[in-house]
Amino acid sequence: MEHVSRRGLSFDRIVRVTKMAPATYSLPSLPYAYDALEPSISAQIMELHHSKHHQTYVTNLNNALRALAAAQSTGDVAAQIALQPALRFNGGGHINHSLFWTNLTPASSPDTDPAKAAPQLSQAIEQAWGSHEGFRKAFGAALLGIQGSGWGWLVREEKGGAVGGGGLRIVTTKDQDPVVGGEIPIIGVDMWEHAYYLQYLNGKAAYVENIWKVINWRTAEQRYLGGREDVFKDLKAAM
Ligand SMILES: [Fe+2]
Repeated sequence: MEHVSRRGLSFDRIVRVTKMAPATYSLPSLPYAYDALEPSISAQIMELHHSKHHQTYVTNLNNALRALAAAQSTGDVAAQIALQPALRFNGGGHINHSLFWTNLTPASSPDTDPAKAAPQLSQAIEQAWGSHEGFRKAFGAALLGIQGSGWGWLVREEKGGAVGGGGLRIVTTKDQDPVVGGEIPIIGVDMWEHAYYLQYLNGKAAYVENIWKVINWRTAEQRYLGGREDVFKDLKAAM
């Protein structure tokens, strides 16, 4: 028999809610085979990067969320604070890699042609940087300027950056920090050594040059035309 409080909430339901397990995240499947991005990115890198590196971020994010739920249930504020770096690092790692896989596609795909797959974004890029070449040069300089590990992003400001009204910027984030605040990530490039070193060794500039051959401009156009919620909708946890 259910016990009901004066406010109409079942006590059994309250107990179930407070004891509910935290959300869990899972490794998303790649929308192409591990060798599909060769020769720009080798199958060996893709397999390790996805099945080992990204999986580790997902596993550690879920572990941190379980520990956070336990700390919250006992009101242990110090433990909750101590977990913030792990949440930031592994949550960011999961978000960034999920965005990265879907903004890549095999070089043979028609989606690698920005003029056809991303007409509106292409127009905005040309307005902002003069040409695609000018944009790639500026983006490449930002990527190669990252010290240590991090990411480079083409973003649109959600407010004041209306489609067709400018608001495009190139930004970099450190370690696994994701693009936060009011910016919509359109294209992200992983500049951690694990993303290129097995194939390119210290030739970071060649990795940056070759990644343009496998950028999925159709995805970029969709992100450019949508809002932050659209970009992150596939990242919802399983409850
Ligand atoms: Fe990575």
